[in-house]
Amino acid sequence: MSRDAYVNGRFVRHDMAAVHVEDRGYQFADGVYEVIGVSGGRFIDETGHLARLRYSLGELKIPLPLSEAALKLVMRALVRRNRLSEGMLYLQITRGVAPRDFKFPADVKPAIVMTTRRARFSAEAAGVAVVTVPDIRWARRDIKTVGLLAQVLAKQHAAERGAFEAWMVDREGFVTEGASSNAWIVTQDGVLVTRQPDRSILHGVTGNSIERLAGELGLKVERRPFTLSEAHQAREAFMSSATSFCLPIVEIDGRPVGNGGAGAVAAELRRLYWDYARDGRGRQFEWR
Ligand code: PDD
Repeated sequence: MSRDAYVNGRFVRHDMAAVHVEDRGYQFADGVYEVIGVSGGRFIDETGHLARLRYSLGELKIPLPLSEAALKLVMRALVRRNRLSEGMLYLQITRGVAPRDFKFPADVKPAIVMTTRRARFSAEAAGVAVVTVPDIRWARRDIKTVGLLAQVLAKQHAAERGAFEAWMVDREGFVTEGASSNAWIVTQDGVLVTRQPDRSILHGVTGNSIERLAGELGLKVERRPFTLSEAHQAREAFMSSATSFCLPIVEIDGRPVGNGGAGAVAAELRRLYWDYARDGRGRQFEWR
């Protein structure tokens, strides 16, 4: 079956899909993106991802090149065309195509592309290992830009050490987040700790929903930075993202977390998010 992409108003075969050489995303990373999970052919946490897309675009003063209603129609059309039941949709909007010049070009229409990819999600997951790297990114990590070179290097570093994810650590020794996920620990007292959503991290849509699900379970969530030594002493650790849901972390820099097995809290939150993701009635938390 051929797979299609959406490029600036047209559905095109994925292997033929292309953007202009002077797209500002290509030259300056002047653009934003979202990755949205798909389960049962429906978008997971769509409301939150679209809210964050509006936020990222707003911070960079890039207008949405089509109405939000039209955007949602195109997203659905692509999922249908590609017969995607489970997987993800990638959506990227850049400032557009213009002769290379740093300042914003006048009268340029933003460029938009979308692709889909199949994946298998599951209610249960074995734990993964992470390694830590210094966080060398810029100061506006709250904007989901396509400028991901620091994360590329971090993920490569992790892969070369057989780890699934890299946790980035700031100059003060606090964990900021994963290269493409948010970072969480569960203290010995059973309190969930994850960094507050300021400019130092990307405020995850999945993490936001997991925080609400944890609240419904009666768990306490503290939004504050935590150090690596706190993480090493924690009962559990896990990561959250649109593609990993809630994934237990069993090892940090080669040392086991807790008893070295997938934690019970992370496993429960994963099951709850799994149910939430597959909820045909479409309950969706607000992203804030
Ligand atoms: N990454 N932090 C960073 C730096 C991320 O890149 C991501 C997501 C997250 C989690 O956000 P969310 O829960 O909304 O997916 C946190 C996506 C999945 C990616 O780049 O592939």
